[in-house]
Amino acid sequence: MVYLTRIEHFNAAHKLYNPNWSREQNEVVFGKCANENWHGHNYELYVTVKGTPNPDTGFLYDVKKLSIIIKDKVIEKIDHRNLNIDVDFMQGKMCSTENLAMGIWNELVPHLPSEIKLHCIKLYETASIYVEYYGE
Ligand code: NI
Repeated sequence: MVYLTRIEHFNAAHKLYNPNWSREQNEVVFGKCANENWHGHNYELYVTVKGTPNPDTGFLYDVKKLSIIIKDKVIEKIDHRNLNIDVDFMQGKMCSTENLAMGIWNELVPHLPSEIKLHCIKLYETASIYVEYYGE
């Protein structure tokens, strides 16, 4: 089994705010991410797939094709968007990096070719914070 990672970048706006709580409580829990008038992050998305290399190419999968799938099925939906408002798969969820990573996994899985399996979605919200999701 070998693992292959493609890195993609996107920018998006969001707000973390639980309407059942007071503004004070939201600010305590979410800090700057509770800002009423939105804010953005420069996200780095690491998509890791796994499988067995093709004996004819030595490649697990054509990484250019993998990049096109990620861009078409995920980046297109979230880049330069407001995650709370514009993104169908985030509706009804808190727009945390955790939920975004899980949502990206679910968007991507049905579109991957049979020769590779999704192993990990690793999503950096800042240079010092990231989330990993392995599908369970
Ligand atoms: Ni934030």
